[in-house]
Amino acid sequence: MHSKMTAFMRKLVEKYNIVILHSQTNSFHSLCQVRVQAWKEVSGKEITFKNIDIAKEYDLLVQLIKDEQPDSIVHFAEQRAAPYSMKNSKTKRYTIDNNVSGSNNLCCAIIDAEVDAHIVHLGTMGVYGYGTSGGEIPEGYIDVTLPGGREANILHPAHPGSIYHATKCLDAIMWQFYQKNDDLRITDLHQGIVWGTNTPQTIKDERLVNRFDYDGDYGTVLNRFLMQGAMGVPLTVYGTGGQTRGFIHVTDTAKCIEIAVDNPPKKGDRVEIFNQIAETRRVRDVAALVADQTGVEVNNIPNPRQEAAENELDVSNKKFCNLGLEPTTLDAGLFDEVTQIVKKYKDRCDPTKILPASFWNKKRAQECADLDPNSVKLGEEKETVNGV
Ligand SMILES: NC(=O)c1ccc[n+]([C@@H]2O[C@H](COP(=O)([O-])OP(=O)(O)OC[C@H]3O[C@@H](n4cnc5c(N)ncnc54)[C@H](O)[C@@H]3O)[C@@H](O)[C@H]2O)c1
Repeated sequence: MHSKMTAFMRKLVEKYNIVILHSQTNSFHSLCQVRVQAWKEVSGKEITFKNIDIAKEYDLLVQLIKDEQPDSIVHFAEQRAAPYSMKNSKTKRYTIDNNVSGSNNLCCAIIDAEVDAHIVHLGTMGVYGYGTSGGEIPEGYIDVTLPGGREANILHPAHPGSIYHATKCLDAIMWQFYQKNDDLRITDLHQGIVWGTNTPQTIKDERLVNRFDYDGDYGTVLNRFLMQGAMGVPLTVYGTGGQTRGFIHVTDTAKCIEIAVDNPPKKGDRVEIFNQIAETRRVRDVAALVADQTGVEVNNIPNPRQEAAENELDVSNKKFCNLGLEPTTLDAGLFDEVTQIVKKYKDRCDPTKILPASFWNKKRAQECADLDPNSVKLGEEKETVNGV
């Protein structure tokens, strides 16, 4: 399958020469070639695709950077599903090995290739943790008073809520090291939960459509709700749905990356950190919005995750707004685009994949023991109500 966020790339290649790296299977490789060809037909621009595992094929990575001499490297290449990372010790170990090695290899390769490339890394809001912090979360660094009354501005403490989030915290420490030690120029984007399927670029040709994950491991919450709503399945809200999270539409993600690429830190500057979100919302409020549009019920199920049942989240995103981002907020008008995609590909939906299949620990697994994946049946396909 192709990446949801390769949509960003379509936007970027309108402006820059781009090389895309991916590590996947042969069928993935040919799918990427189809998309590259489609983009060429639509835009007249060419994307070079290289299939390199950056966690393992270090020499190829160094050679590629030497050959391309890039100004910027947008680094998405990580196992990005928190539930997948928490399935079992195999997936935990893979997530750490892949993500941490990939980021470390990228820094080493830039140094070995002797290229002054700016790294733009996709991190996550989850590095800050999802408790209630009691105030606005600043962008990466926080003012503190140390013992003895000394004032300091330090990297925000890391509070990962899964092994996946832990890899993004480890990345953040690594960026600090390579910036200080080797003067690398690095921007870390602490991104919220992406929703939506298309950017203005991908919508130009069906072959450019992004992957749409609706399952318990890979699907992100709002896209899952939209899919469930369209398919007549009760919305799977974990616990009370009192979790507050940051959200961003895929088109804004593309815009943020463009802004980050256009505003690199200078040599010697500390790691630049942006909070990449449009707004925060409580999960139960998001569910209510989708239920209102589609007429499906909300189903509160036991929470498979070890996390606070309820939390507040107040996040600064001033840096992006000051640089021109006009955040797209959750607008039912945009739900329609996702709903149309879901309906178009509904035959591919496997309802047994909808309930959570990954549990943070034994206690959570026991609490979820009665969830039966085979109990989910697709209902009548729902026409959206309320005019959407
Ligand atoms: N989707 C979200 O809501 C979200 C939120 C915050 C952050 N992010 C981050 O954004 C980035 C992209 O996420 P996405 O949602 O498009 O996920 P995705 O899984 O669709 O894309 C990640 C891509 O990285 C590739 N990859 C993984 N390991 C690699 C390796 N060792 N070498 C080369 N390629 C490798 C995968 O093949 C995949 O195509 C990830 O780093 C993710 O952690 C995503």
